[in-house]
Amino acid sequence: MPSIKVAILGFGTVGEGIYRILNERKEEIRQETGHTIDIVSILVRDKSKERRVTVGTVITTDVQEILLNPDIDVIFEAIVGEEPAFSYLIEAIDKGYHVITANKAMFAKHGPALVKHAEAHGVQARYEATTAGGVPIIRTITSLLPADRVRRIRGILNGTSNFILTKMREEEIPFKAALHEAQQLGYAEADPTDDVSGMDAFRKLMILSALAFGRQPDWQDVPIVGIDGATTEGVQDASKGKLRYRHIADISIDEDGILRGSVGPVLIGADHPLYGVDGVDNAIIVDTDHLGSLTLIGPGAGMYPTGSAMVGDLLQVIGKREVVTVSN
Ligand code: NAP
Ligand code: HSE
Repeated sequence: MPSIKVAILGFGTVGEGIYRILNERKEEIRQETGHTIDIVSILVRDKSKERRVTVGTVITTDVQEILLNPDIDVIFEAIVGEEPAFSYLIEAIDKGYHVITANKAMFAKHGPALVKHAEAHGVQARYEATTAGGVPIIRTITSLLPADRVRRIRGILNGTSNFILTKMREEEIPFKAALHEAQQLGYAEADPTDDVSGMDAFRKLMILSALAFGRQPDWQDVPIVGIDGATTEGVQDASKGKLRYRHIADISIDEDGILRGSVGPVLIGADHPLYGVDGVDNAIIVDTDHLGSLTLIGPGAGMYPTGSAMVGDLLQVIGKREVVTVSN
């Protein structure tokens, strides 16, 4: 029985999610793919923290222990920020490993270069978890592209913001209390500034733009507004008027090939397709020439949805159909 050896960079919400799913689904994955998945090493910053991992998995703070291990086939990356993540993955690709990332801050900026580098080295760079958590938007757009042309992508791309707006409306709690809950549930980033400022949704929009349109607009041309100015009173007043605030990221291409993007809170009525999307859910509406309009809705953050997207990427690397599904 062939074994696939993997390493996980990062053991926070996402890294632990990958670890748990690979262990919980080990037998199903073996039956489906014919491979056993062995988690060889995990990279962390602080080795003194208690980690619930089985004997045999090495916990290290030295990335070279992983990058110099010729037995490893695939590297999952779930650490924080552009660097050192980008450099680690470039080095991993140079050494012949497939890479799977959840790191949108890194991928929004360096994704096209990373994918090109992987192609040049005959390995795969997969990134489903960078955008909309467990919602398989990257795979969906990728499979649409050869036969169709995407015109517009819009939706809710930050689970924390949608969760906060929902809590403020449904439970009338203050912004800070709702954010605290999102942090406790593992939805928000360690530093939630990018979640509530709109920057996180913007980065995901740029990842989708590069995929669907082959390029990104100039970043400074995209207005970005967050939900950090939202008040419970404002959300409640809108609700009394049968309106809801949604934090919407939107990008479209016109006939001249000009890209136009925006990110910010929008007041919408019950007739809008995003009106009923609550809590941590994300929703993405993709408009194309032939298919028309397609909407995907599902959990946009959290341990299992994100881990599931990354394990789904691993199964794509192995070349078998996915056995881990996203719950909507
Ligand atoms: P997290 O809970 O803060 O965990 C980060 C992990 O990475 C920790 O284990 C930390 O080590 C480790 N780490 C951070 N910087 C490191 C470095 N320079 N070298 C080695 N280890 C490092 O973060 P998370 O929520 O799991 O998110 C991980 C990544 O996935 C981020 O890029 C995030 O944007 C992205 N993401 C998150 C979600 C989500 O729902 N949370 C969803 C999609 C994508 P210690 O444990 O020692 O501190
Ligand atoms: N902090 C992010 C969010 C995680 O709330 O959407 C998923 O990318």
